[in-house]
Amino acid sequence: MTKLTGAAAPALILAIETSCDETSVAVVKGGTEVLSNIVSSQIETHRAFGGVVPEVASRKHVEVITRIVEEALAEAKVKPAELTAVAVTQGPGLVGALLVGVVAAKGLALAWDKPLIGTHHIAGHIYANRLVEELQYPCMTLVVSGGHTELVLLEREGSFRIIGRTRDDAVGEAYDKVARALGFPYPGGPHVDKLAREAEEAVPLPRVWLEPGSYDFSFSGLKSAVLNVVNQSKMKGLEPDVAGIARGFQESVVEVLVEKAVRAAKANDARQLLLSGGVAANKGLREVLIRRCAEEGIKLIIPPPVYCTDNAAMIAAAADVKWRHDGGAPLDLVADPGLSLENWSVREPAY
Ligand code: KG4
Ligand code: ZN
Repeated sequence: MTKLTGAAAPALILAIETSCDETSVAVVKGGTEVLSNIVSSQIETHRAFGGVVPEVASRKHVEVITRIVEEALAEAKVKPAELTAVAVTQGPGLVGALLVGVVAAKGLALAWDKPLIGTHHIAGHIYANRLVEELQYPCMTLVVSGGHTELVLLEREGSFRIIGRTRDDAVGEAYDKVARALGFPYPGGPHVDKLAREAEEAVPLPRVWLEPGSYDFSFSGLKSAVLNVVNQSKMKGLEPDVAGIARGFQESVVEVLVEKAVRAAKANDARQLLLSGGVAANKGLREVLIRRCAEEGIKLIIPPPVYCTDNAAMIAAAADVKWRHDGGAPLDLVADPGLSLENWSVREPAY
């Protein structure tokens, strides 16, 4: 297949994101100018089950995807013929959910005669920062979402090296499990965050640093410690100090995330530290990161909440990088729930 490389004009990309429980379509110019970013959340549907039900997620994506594409084009005031390419989240994510987006994107690319750009979901979370400010390399990213907790070094545009990752639960997953133990509905992260800031005192909980020098994380021990505190109170016939536990949990998580991110940024001479993923909406994390980066003289970028949780504008921002370096993907592209971020790194220098 001939390689379809981007022309010098800013690319106008329609991007589709369906990796989990948000159906989102965006139209973005030049990877930074968001003309539309429609997000249809399924949270209300999944709440009744206490978490995302994969089968239900796929079905919901099928129900709304066509309407969301139409809305995104209408809000952007863009006609399909004006688009440069169609981008889609290829992975990682729930396979059935990813499939809906990939099939829709392929259909549109074929019908509109446009190139297709397969995009990595975490590259999207990282490049959400591009929607706020131009990135300078090398930069360090702390990715904190429901499925991922990683420290990723970008030595140059589109190149990803994971220097630390969680060995068990992702941080968002730990938030959701702790929230459930404290009696809050899915997704629990925002509830724990709010409660933590209302508490007068923190219940002391451990910090998990792992071996000296390691950039990896572990949250399952902390989660078990929370469950122990809750169970011990119940056994004594007492109501658990829900707010104090939330604050103790949040302080432990935030301290470890922030200290490792700051150390990683300094050790790699990062020109910027970027925060990415759904947990980046956490107010406690933002506050401590802002303070510590100011103390250490590190330039910090945090996207607004709408670009932190799953959305298609971030997918377009990453797809634009891929397009300028590597061009479009063949139409036999498949949804890949285990897609590797490092292997998705761009191959060729941009024009
Ligand atoms: O990035 P995201 O939208 O989806 C994934 O790709 O995983 O992240 C969703 C996660 C959920 O676990 C949710 O509880 C968590 O982000 N989250 C928060 C907050 N807002 C969302 N966690 C802690 N504090 C918050 N304010
Ligand atoms: Zn995500």
